[in-house]
Amino acid sequence: MSGENLLELDNVSKFFPIGGFFSRARMTAVNEVSFALETGRPEIFTIVGESGSGKSTLAKMILGSETADRGTIRFDGADVAGMRSRGAREAFMTRVQPVFQNPFEAFNPLTRIDEYLFSTAHRFKGAKNRADREALTDVALQRVGLSLAEIRGRYSHELSGGQLQRVAIARALIPEPKLIVADEPVSMVDASLRMSIVNLFRELRDTLKVSIIYITHDLATAYYIADRVIIMRKGVVVESGDARTVLDNPQHEYSIALKNAVLPPDPHDASAIIRERQQDAGASAPRKIVSA
Ligand SMILES: Nc1ncnc2c1ncn2[C@@H]1O[C@H](COP(=O)(O)OP(=O)(O)O)[C@@H](O)[C@H]1O
Ligand SMILES: [Mg+2]
Repeated sequence: MSGENLLELDNVSKFFPIGGFFSRARMTAVNEVSFALETGRPEIFTIVGESGSGKSTLAKMILGSETADRGTIRFDGADVAGMRSRGAREAFMTRVQPVFQNPFEAFNPLTRIDEYLFSTAHRFKGAKNRADREALTDVALQRVGLSLAEIRGRYSHELSGGQLQRVAIARALIPEPKLIVADEPVSMVDASLRMSIVNLFRELRDTLKVSIIYITHDLATAYYIADRVIIMRKGVVVESGDARTVLDNPQHEYSIALKNAVLPPDPHDASAIIRERQQDAGASAPRKIVSA
């Protein structure tokens, strides 16, 4: 049944206790969410919703760092919650990699950033000697428009947020994952650099055939890159489907409100905004990504 799906969520719910230690009250952070990503069909699957709608909780459950209270999450047919042994966990992590919102939190300021990439190459690709680690690191960095020569010996504070987020994406690419879960990856990045990073996800989908779960509260970037979209509100998926269909003509009042708050009512104006953003981003666009 699930052999055809890379990722499959089936009625997934998550509850958090509220009202203090002795209270039994709980709030529903994620409420019966279901969707599936097909194997061999790389896409940008976008989860859109305002702050507090349950997006990060959903991402953590997909990554296995939170467990679902109800429902199941399967990756390649195997229950993510059942991957308890270290071996199973490592194998899962080579195939599913995260990119987080704040790249400065992902890198310790006292550790050279190249060392992070080398140790990822060692851990996930078994690169034993320095030359192999450097080669794998350089390939990953080139895919995001950087190179090892540019970041060698440098610390996180010496890079811009946009550059560091590219490094974080490069690190996620080293294990050659099938799925990247990117939770608000551009919200801490300078507005002028956002579109170039968003474009990078598209390039990665096409050149590396990696699926991407792109999480955002920003409907404009969702409109621009999503293949499919789900719109979440208070833990519930209120609308889902083909991104153009949903975002051009939202049906649910929340989706309509979300759209009106971000995009002008005329879709031609919307594409003008997106073009403008692209031009903004063009000034600092990455070098052409080397194909696989
Ligand atoms: N560890 C936690 N403990 C208690 N409540 C949480 C926890 N994580 C998230 N929540 C609550 O769950 C809801 C959804 O949060 P979150 O998944 O972070 O939403 P989003 O990423 O869409 O902003 C929020 O009301 C948040 O306060
Ligand atoms: Mg969040």
